[in-house]
Parts: sequence; C-alpha cells; structure tokens
Amino acid sequence: MNPQAIEVWIEETLAQMTLEEKVSLLSGRDWWYTAPIERLGVPPVAMTDGPHGVRTDTWTEERPRGAATSFPTGVSMAASWDPALIERVGAALAAETRALDCDILLAPCVNIARTPVAGRNFESYSEDPYLAGRIGVAYVKGLQEQGVGASLKHYACNNQEVERMRGNSVVDERTLREIYLPAFEAVVKEARPWTVMCAYNRINGVYASEHQHLLRDILKGEWGFEGPVISDWGANHTIVESVAGGLDIEMPGPAKYYGQLLVEEVRHWQIEESVIDDAARRVLRLVAWSGRLDEDALPEGALNTPEHQALARELAEASITLLKNADATLPLDATKLRKVAVIGPNGAEARIGGGGSSYLEPPYRVSPLEGLRARLGPEVAVEYARGCDNYAEYPLFQPNLPPQEGAENGLRAQFYNDLALSGEPVAERLEAYLDHWRVSLPPGVDSESFAVRWTGQFRAEQSGRHAFKVYNTGTCRLYVDGALLLDATPATNQDWETIGSVAYCDLVAGQTYALQVEYVKPRGIQYGTLFLLGAYAPLPENDDRIAQAVALAKESDVAILCMGMAKGFESEGQDRPDLALPGPQTELIRAVAAANPRTVVVVNAGSPVEMPWLADVPAVVLAYYPGQEGGHALARLLLGDVNPSGKLPVTFPRRYADNPTYTNYPGLREVKYGEGIFVGYRYYDHKEVEPEFPFGFGLSYTTFEYRDLSVPETVKAGEPVPVRVTLVNTGERAGSEVAQLYVNDPESGLARPPQELKRFAKVTLEPGEQVTLTFELDERALAYYDPVRAGWVVEPGEFEVRVGSSSRDIRARARFTVR
Ligand code: BGC
Repeated sequence: MNPQAIEVWIEETLAQMTLEEKVSLLSGRDWWYTAPIERLGVPPVAMTDGPHGVRTDTWTEERPRGAATSFPTGVSMAASWDPALIERVGAALAAETRALDCDILLAPCVNIARTPVAGRNFESYSEDPYLAGRIGVAYVKGLQEQGVGASLKHYACNNQEVERMRGNSVVDERTLREIYLPAFEAVVKEARPWTVMCAYNRINGVYASEHQHLLRDILKGEWGFEGPVISDWGANHTIVESVAGGLDIEMPGPAKYYGQLLVEEVRHWQIEESVIDDAARRVLRLVAWSGRLDEDALPEGALNTPEHQALARELAEASITLLKNADATLPLDATKLRKVAVIGPNGAEARIGGGGSSYLEPPYRVSPLEGLRARLGPEVAVEYARGCDNYAEYPLFQPNLPPQEGAENGLRAQFYNDLALSGEPVAERLEAYLDHWRVSLPPGVDSESFAVRWTGQFRAEQSGRHAFKVYNTGTCRLYVDGALLLDATPATNQDWETIGSVAYCDLVAGQTYALQVEYVKPRGIQYGTLFLLGAYAPLPENDDRIAQAVALAKESDVAILCMGMAKGFESEGQDRPDLALPGPQTELIRAVAAANPRTVVVVNAGSPVEMPWLADVPAVVLAYYPGQEGGHALARLLLGDVNPSGKLPVTFPRRYADNPTYTNYPGLREVKYGEGIFVGYRYYDHKEVEPEFPFGFGLSYTTFEYRDLSVPETVKAGEPVPVRVTLVNTGERAGSEVAQLYVNDPESGLARPPQELKRFAKVTLEPGEQVTLTFELDERALAYYDPVRAGWVVEPGEFEVRVGSSSRDIRARARFTVR
C-alpha cells in the first residue's frame, strides 16, 4: 500500500471502531504481539529481540523454531566504522527476522556509552553521538528496506543498569540535544523507524514512558515521527500521564494500565478521545507497514545461510581492533610456526555476546582455538591451556554437561499452571541450559502465574564442597539426589536487584547426581521470569593451571592469550564493578609474557578494560564479542589474511578513576549527568587526561598518509563547507583506513569540547594507491545547542577542521571563517 492508501485505510478502520477497540490496540496481546481486532481485519504484529541476531527463544506455537546467526554485537558494528557494511547486516537480520515470522526486530540500541562500566555498552554503539547515529541509520535502513521494522531504543538517557527501572537521569537541555538525542534524531529523520521504544528510567524526574517533552514535543513534533512509541517491557507505570505524554503501546501485554482502566479515564473526561485516536492511528500505521494486511506479499526469510555466516565473519574482521603491535609481532607468519599456544579462559570457549535480552544461541560458534586450528591445519600444533578462570565467582560448571550416557542430553522442563506443580504438566520440552532471562513459555502456559520443574543429571568433576547459586524472582527450590538444598524466595522480586541465593553440598568426583529445580512464579510479580542458575565447584586443591600455561608458552613459538569477560559478565540488568579483568587474568598474562616474549593478548569485552600489563606484552587485539564466526575472523587477522581496520568507538582510560562519570556514577537513584557535554573523548581532550587508547584509535599492518587538506578560506553562514583530503596507502599491504574529521571552534559564546567528530569515511587502498575524499560540513556540523534561544547556533568566526587516524592522531589541520 502506498502512504496515501494507508492513511485512507486507517481512517476507514478507525471510523468503525468502538472506544474499547481503539484502546485494545494500545497494549500488547501478549509478550510479543500487538493486539488484533478480528472483526475489522486488523492482524497482530510480531516482535522479537535483537540487536545482533534474532532472539530465538521467543518462539511460540505461531512461530517457527530455528537457530539464528549471531553477528558481532553493537559495539563491533560501531568499531567497523562502516555504514555500508552495517546496512548489509541490517538486511541479513531482516531476512532472519522474517524466517521466524516476525515483523519487528527490537533494535537498534543507540544509547550513548556514558560510563565505561555500563552493562549494555556491548549492545550499543559509541560514546560519540555522530558515530552512533551513522551506524544506527545504516542498520535501520538495511532492516526496513527488506520489509522488517526497527524499534529504535531506548529513548532516552538509558545509560546504566544500576537502578535502571527507577533511576532518574538528571541532564540539562543542551547535553540532551548535543549528546544523548542526536543518534535518535538522525535515525528518526533519515531512516524512519517503524517504532521507537521508550526507556525504563526517568529523565529529569519524569518517566521516559510519560515524557511529553521527549515524546510529544521532540520525537513526534520536531522530528516528525509517525509510528507508535512502545514501552520497554514493563516501563509503563501510569494511565493518563502516559497516553498524554505520548506512549502509544504498553508492552508486554495483556494491559496493566492501558486496558479497561484507560477506557474509564476517557469516559470520566480525564483524557480526550482524540488523544486515543492519535495513538490508535499510529498502531494501525504500524500494522499497514508490517505487510500483515496481505500475508501473501510478505517477503520470504532466510536463517543462518552460508551468506549470513560469511557476513558475520566479515563484520568481525572489519571490527576487531589492533591496539598494540610492537616490533611487528603481528601478523604471524604461518610458515614459521610449529607450535602455537592458545591460553586463557576465552580460548576454547567462544565469547559471542553479553547477557540479557539480546542473548541468542546460534547453531554453532567458533572459538579462537578452533579458528586457529582450522586456519593452521595439521602441520602446526595448536595446543590449549586454560590458565585460570574469569568468572566473578569461580569456577562455574553447567549442571547438564557433559552429556550423560544413557540419559537425555539436557534438562527436561515441565510447565504447570498449577503453582503446586501437581497433576499433568501443560507443556514439556528439553532444554540445554538452566539460564533464562525471563523464561519464554510454551503455548498453554499462563505467563502471569506458572511453575516449572527441570529434571536432569550431572556428574561432579571434582570432590569437595560445591556452591549452588540461583538468581530468581518468585520461588526457586533446588534438590540434589532428592534432598532439598535450597529454597529461595527473594524479598525484592525485581530483576535488577536480585542478588542470588547460595547453598552448599559435598560431592564426590565421578559420581552422577540427580538434579531437580522447581520454579514458581505467582501472580503479582512483574518480572517473575528472570531465572539463572550457576553451580560452583571448588578450585582444584593444587591449582597449578598458570604453571601449566607457562610451560606450554615456553615450548611454543607464540602464545595467544584469550582473555576478557566470562559469559554474562557484561549484561543487561547489571553494570561491572570496575574496569579490571575479572579473576586472576592479570597474573596469568604477566606469567605467560615473562615465559614467552611473543605473547599476543586478545580481549573479549564490550567496553573498556584497564591494562596494567600493557607494557609487558608486545601485541594486543580487542575482539569485542565477535559473534559465531569470531574464531575464524580472529585467526585470519592474526595470520595476516585480513588487515585490521577496526577503530575504537569509545575511549579506553588508563584507570577507571579517569573516566568522566567517575564522580557522577551510579548516583543514588538520582544520576546527575554532571560532566554535561563532556562525554567520552570530549572530556579527556578538555581535561587533558591521557587515555590508554583514544577514541577512533586502531592500528593496521600498513601505513597511511594524509595529504593536501583543503577548505575554502571563508564561507557564508548556512552554506555547506567542502573539505578535501587525499589519503595514500604508503605501506606494503592492502588495507582500510577510517579517515576521521573533527571540528574545533576556537572561540565561542558557550564552552565547547575541543573537537567533535563530524564526518568519517572508511576506504580500502592497495599499496601505493591514493584517493581524494570529499566531505561536506553542513550548518549542524558547526553548531552548538543554545538552551536559551532553544535552537542550534553557528557563531560566525573561525573554525578548524582536523583530519586524522584517531582523535589523538590528527594528521592535518585547516582553518576557515564563517561570515
Ligand atoms: C530490554 C529491551 C528488550 C525488551 C524485550 C527489556 O528488558 O530492555 O531492550 O527489547 O526487554 O525483551
């Protein structure tokens, strides 16, 4: 349907609707679908989580099952600095979403990485609003051009997980406009996302879900957003305030506030019916956009195809960032290798993502060890030593693994609507992990009130006292060999405050035990579905794993240390305590580096880590969370098949205490954004604090030169400023460079950051090849937001453009005057 036909259909449909029917559209039918109106032929629209792959544990009887591709996460997308590539990733994600018969992918997440410890930094893009905006625009365009809708999230100032559902982000208007809103603004104006998801938190005292200024004035008013605003899951807390504020759809359904209570409010003159009409129109627009009005015309999907796998690898290769490479340690020469040591807790396990709603289980995942073995072939011995653990509480074992002979491989889950778990289960299924971020329920289970029993076996690897830990809302009971070990009913029942309950049990190595876990979620608990289980075995008595790793490193040509975060350490729902590598990883790095001077450290992290060991090793590679193909990508990059081209989308500080939010985080439910516009590199530049690695930094195996930067001497205010620069590959290998353009305003009425990223381009050049890049700076690229005049201001006078390879590696400067 063309836009005109859509509006005609909307008006015709709306005219036939009762008030109850209009209101029924304003909340979900259930956890993942919008509400249909069968009488009028309004179908439901299906959503599922992103952002770096389609979450597949959300299947219901309406959806096909299948394992989706796990792409590198958001921070990797930004580290590629390659919008054209991200557009292709968006298109692939659309095909995967369609393959699972969904219409909307709940993505992208364009929130600014304000503090380096924020748990969801790995899902989002950058500390810089311009970079976040460019990547977000590309992602949404790629997705929506294939007929799948985006849900731009989380609007706005959702920058930490501590107190994420009631914290109040106290932020001034200028900072909002210059730092926290521009990525949203760019995506809304240029890519027209089908939906926008409001955040959980409050902004200046008002919940995001009822924020007139953000939702009505700015998003729908100034930026012209035409679709519905949906609440983050459980982010709506009011009836009249929310509808008046501009929240159109309460999720998940069924409605808590937007049901019969909202109908009553209209009948009692608390809210005009025209406000309901506007919201209903937006939902109908979404229905039309989804293509559900003509199911036969819906685009076909494709899941985890070889093309998507190759694309996942391409993105990993384009984003992995080379941070240090002394004495040309990398690339490794395969012909000179006989023995390679892969060491570390992330060597044999592939770290593909962080925890929370974005987590997805792909059909396979390639670890660094597997990737290197595949790349080097049987000629080279690639051996592994774990060295140490990186768990916050160690060491974790998965109770269902290893598979038991003669038993089901996994845990049998039985679902009950009866909280006493009596009678016949409503549904059963086999599950691989006891690790549920809000258990997804099979059909027939009442999501408001249900119980589950998991049964299975596990074999103890070691003798001694084991700790079993559960994180849950509701009630969790755990039995080992039939004996009740733990009965946990946390008082708060809020997922972001769950601290976990522990019980201990003596086990004997080699013995098999029966495990039974019962989970009960009564009515009235909002987040009754968060549930995690870890079981911790004791450390081996003589833990000599570091010594074993050192011995292996000594007899190898090179040691690849695979370090970083354990599964779920960076996660929705929690921030990191600091920037340290968890566990004894620093000790392991130092011991191995002392044993073998050719030591390469590979880090899996979605945000900065401190590197007190940096001077001890010649090479450091930041892999982020590189998705299911990560191990292959890493191997190709270490061996020089791929020339690294990723650049940091965030600053890496030397010490945690150096970061701009240090004194204003996490706040006591009031989070004062006291650093104002000085976020990320804007702060380090302004305060003259030396970072470990600056924003925009990343090495290559080749070298580039910047020549002939030119700008006109003077320009008229309002006219675009053309900037030209020539880039030459002066090294011996083909490679890609991200040319970054920063603008400095030497004198201005209001204080401004020393420089701000305004344009960039990623180009691939053969050795000796050169290219002339042309950038155009518009008014906005020179402007600051003046809160008194309530608008963007370009002050006449001098400006400087700086072009370079990172924010601290400026290769050319030129000045121009705005008349
Ligand atoms: C997250 C959203 C997600 C939603 C649905 C919330 O907890 O904040 O990002 O899309 O759940 O799973």
